[in-house]
Amino acid sequence: MRIYDFGSGRTDPGSFPTAELAEAARQAVLELGPELVKYPGDMGHLGLRQVMAAREAQREGVAVSPEHIVLTNGSMQGVTLAAEALMRGAGDVIVTEEYTYSGTIGAYRGLGARLVGVPQDEQGMDVEALDRTLVQLQRQGTPPAFVYTLTTYQNPTGAVMSTPRRRQLIEVAKKHQVIVVEDNCYGDVHFEGPVPPALYALDPELPSVYLCSLSKILGPGLRLGYILARPPLLERLLDRRYDGGNSALAAAICATFFKDRLWAHVAHTNAILKEKRDTLFAALEEHLGDICTWTRPVGGMFLWVGFPPDVDQQKLAALAAERGVIYARGSAFHVRNELVPFLRLAFGFCSLDDIREGIPVLGECIRQARAGVLADA
Ligand SMILES: Cc1ncc(COP(=O)(O)O)c(C=O)c1O
Repeated sequence: MRIYDFGSGRTDPGSFPTAELAEAARQAVLELGPELVKYPGDMGHLGLRQVMAAREAQREGVAVSPEHIVLTNGSMQGVTLAAEALMRGAGDVIVTEEYTYSGTIGAYRGLGARLVGVPQDEQGMDVEALDRTLVQLQRQGTPPAFVYTLTTYQNPTGAVMSTPRRRQLIEVAKKHQVIVVEDNCYGDVHFEGPVPPALYALDPELPSVYLCSLSKILGPGLRLGYILARPPLLERLLDRRYDGGNSALAAAICATFFKDRLWAHVAHTNAILKEKRDTLFAALEEHLGDICTWTRPVGGMFLWVGFPPDVDQQKLAALAAERGVIYARGSAFHVRNELVPFLRLAFGFCSLDDIREGIPVLGECIRQARAGVLADA
């Protein structure tokens, strides 16, 4: 059966630089040699930390020290480490957007956190609502361990928080003395318009843990991400690290590959992803424009699609599975897993043909799953 995979946030497989990475791998092994009999240590391979510090500094226009960058096993390790280090114990509250990354929801629940969602709009987290939530939590004697936010190309909605709202968020966080964990996993998967600064770049005084990744600009198979934090938060995070560091070999290969061509590579992959996004816009307009709504993200890998409330979601899931259409259910991203009339479409991994041919199939499934439509209609 033909599969149309709009499921998870992976980049375009055809743009993976196999030959260049093979050459980088040869160089990295020759350079590292017997160094690989050592454990890499908590901070990780210096060469990649330098390249990632330059990536941050060039994007954000501020100085970034490699001494504040800790390489991790994907940004997911940073997501988890932040909670392990900053939670006071099971039952501690973590504040997030009402809709957030399903992996984070799973990890934080697994660590015993109580997630409290803050409403969001097309500019991400509603900061006035955040302020009210923090006041209320304080009153109840349950101040949060931290606020976890996806400020740029929010997953699942694709929203980007404006610079004024970022400043407002920083004010609110400082007023309540709460740490902000900013997950910028999709940073640099950017198609058009300005890129607002990261929170750490806007205010060096903000107690923040910033997370980024190589998964979305290269591939999650490398399992490389990083934390950017300043002391004393940095030490708190490192205190919770027991794994001896992450692969020095993978890091050295990426450092060699990205050293002189990070922005050229990113420009190349972003052009491919933008064409896919635009093709998805057009396919949705043609096949679902009369009954669905969707976001118009300027970066990232997802569209958040709203469908009519009379769609039977179980029926939709069964029909889509029968016809090979993979998508992510909206409830997976809701902080309380509520059944909501949304689904998330990822457009990085699928081909242009998958989009052109798969979206009409998804459209048929959605129409057939509406109330009043007979099973074999
Ligand atoms: C918002 C967000 N954070 C973190 C991750 C984890 O990615 P990785 O561990 O591959 O960097 C993902 C993956 O989809 C994500 O969407």
